[in-house]
Amino acid sequence: MKKRVTKAIFPVAGLGTRFLPATKSIPKEIMTLVDRPLIQYAIDEARAAGIKEFIFVTSRGKSALEDYFDHSPELESQLRKKGKKDLLETLKSTNMDSGAIAYIRQHKALGLGHAVWCARRLLSNEPFAVILPDDVIAAETPCLQQMVEAYSEIGGNMVAAMEVPDNKTHAYGILDVKEDMGSVVSVKGMVEKPAAGTAPSNLAVIGRYILSPQVMVNLNRIKTGAGGELQLTDAIAQEIAAHDNVYGFRFRGQRFDCGSKAGFLQATVAFGMARDDLREEFTDFLADLMSVPNAAQ
Ligand code: UTP
Repeated sequence: MKKRVTKAIFPVAGLGTRFLPATKSIPKEIMTLVDRPLIQYAIDEARAAGIKEFIFVTSRGKSALEDYFDHSPELESQLRKKGKKDLLETLKSTNMDSGAIAYIRQHKALGLGHAVWCARRLLSNEPFAVILPDDVIAAETPCLQQMVEAYSEIGGNMVAAMEVPDNKTHAYGILDVKEDMGSVVSVKGMVEKPAAGTAPSNLAVIGRYILSPQVMVNLNRIKTGAGGELQLTDAIAQEIAAHDNVYGFRFRGQRFDCGSKAGFLQATVAFGMARDDLREEFTDFLADLMSVPNAAQ
């Protein structure tokens, strides 16, 4: 029987340079889409998928993230006094059970593979999820939940994948597909950021993974090997040769690249439009804006 996935790693130790100067003092993951920080979307998605333990790989300057998941006794007592039950309820989703959340430091931003490797001592011989909070996915069934369901059938290693146009493949890890079974594809290779015109497919890896403990072993081996760089893609790709058990999963939903300014703005509009309390006013505003060229300049 396949082991259940109950732990997720959230690598949040990057420098977030694309959002400077904002990210000089605020972690990127605390930036808000409508009224919730990016990290809240990631946590909600993980919870829906059955994740019980949340491992954050953080770095200097990320203390706002730790505070975000703590209780806020003063604020809560004020809200209670004022009878603001709905806001108290909203705050509940930010609280974590004691011991459910762990923070580990990545002392230098040495890349995603290295960030995942930093969490190695918090995992035993079990599969684990990796969620990149700057990939926000709007979906009826949350993306990681879809993946956990597929994983319970096929196991192995699973990466979320989506079709991207030819002129975008150079920005992603791209799958070399062995067999296309619809929502699941088996993979015979993975190429990180292929040069224009050389991508083996249009299927790009985005920030959701379910990985076998062997991937952590691979990261460890690369780390202790001769000066190898720790690429997560390499550690996953090694499993293709070793166990032929790497799969791409075409999720149902819309992914927003909130690590980029354009993606973040698109997500803000999409999530704003999806909100019952904002839709009407926001739609009117957007319609006005579109009818007056360059109004925002
Ligand atoms: P990005 O490639 O988006 O890098 O990382 P970044 O530093 O966050 O942002 P830019 O490119 O400078 O604007 C993808 C994910 O991997 C994490 C990031 O926090 C983000 O969630 N990461 C990246 C780490 O945890 N450590 C690293 O060394 C690099």
